[in-house]
Amino acid sequence: MQQSHAGELRHFLTLMDVSPEELQQLLARAIELKAQHYQGEHYQPFVGKVLGMIFEKSSTRTRISFEAGMSQFGGSAIFLSPRDTQLGRGEPIEDSARVMSRMLDMVMIRTYAHETVERFAQYSRVPVINGLTDDHHPCQLLADLQTFIEQRGPIQGKVVSWIGDGNNMCNSYIHAAHLLGFELRIASPYGFEPDPELMAEFSHCAKLVKSSEDAAEGAHLIATDVWASMGQENEQNTRKRRFAPYQITPRLLDLASDDVLFMHCLPAHRGEEISVDLLDDSRAVVWDEAENRLHAQKALMEFLMQANPNRR
Ligand code: CP
Ligand code: NVA
Repeated sequence: MQQSHAGELRHFLTLMDVSPEELQQLLARAIELKAQHYQGEHYQPFVGKVLGMIFEKSSTRTRISFEAGMSQFGGSAIFLSPRDTQLGRGEPIEDSARVMSRMLDMVMIRTYAHETVERFAQYSRVPVINGLTDDHHPCQLLADLQTFIEQRGPIQGKVVSWIGDGNNMCNSYIHAAHLLGFELRIASPYGFEPDPELMAEFSHCAKLVKSSEDAAEGAHLIATDVWASMGQENEQNTRKRRFAPYQITPRLLDLASDDVLFMHCLPAHRGEEISVDLLDDSRAVVWDEAENRLHAQKALMEFLMQANPNRR
């Protein structure tokens, strides 16, 4: 849904819901909003607006960044867990979407099946944001891209390496490579690569490589994630064995470009996907990356509110 057709409601379910130009503008705006925030400027375009946040999985960063962002914008956010709502007792997602979107101005959902956010969006009167599904984590990519651009300038033409699971984060990196024109190298254990259909669709910008070392060689950004995502806890032991050769260490970063950055969406498991010392390495920018969830999502919410004028 890249084109803004008159009357068509814009959502943010994957990065592909924005055009390359919109993404560039959104990231530039995130950097601007961050600077304003640091200068102590009060900017409150959302007075009286309410964001609903449905969390079917745990969260620290996503919840806090959306809630703080809404408060800073003069609005408010409501945390909705299936345990306390009728969603947990089987009220259909379509009915929940119809009801919630009559009372809220925007909805963020973190859930399992990507199809759930699509169905919610289909029945919603207000913009819907994907706060993570099994298949995509586009809000995290906004923060990662903002962090790279802030510290290193444009990402176009750079080499980005994804080392680890071909999971939701990896899929969103594939979309980002397409939209912003960087080369994405993916090193995953056999059987844990991203979906072959997605790889075929984006073969112009994303390719599989044989090892972590092949991925790291000359890279400008190296990113990874947990070996077992939320919902895969029972695979933890098998995954620990299969992913062991893919641990990121300072030595691996030494193979990359001199100005390489290391990112991890967090939470991280020291001694598993990263060595115990990696986050203390000056090339790791994970704390800036985490902070940028706040600024990037404020830019996203402002973008969606402007792209959907007078929608309730
Ligand atoms: N990176 C991320 O989405 O963190 P949370 O799970 O804490 O929201
Ligand atoms: N891939 C991880 C990301 C957590 C922010 C998960 O889905 O659990």
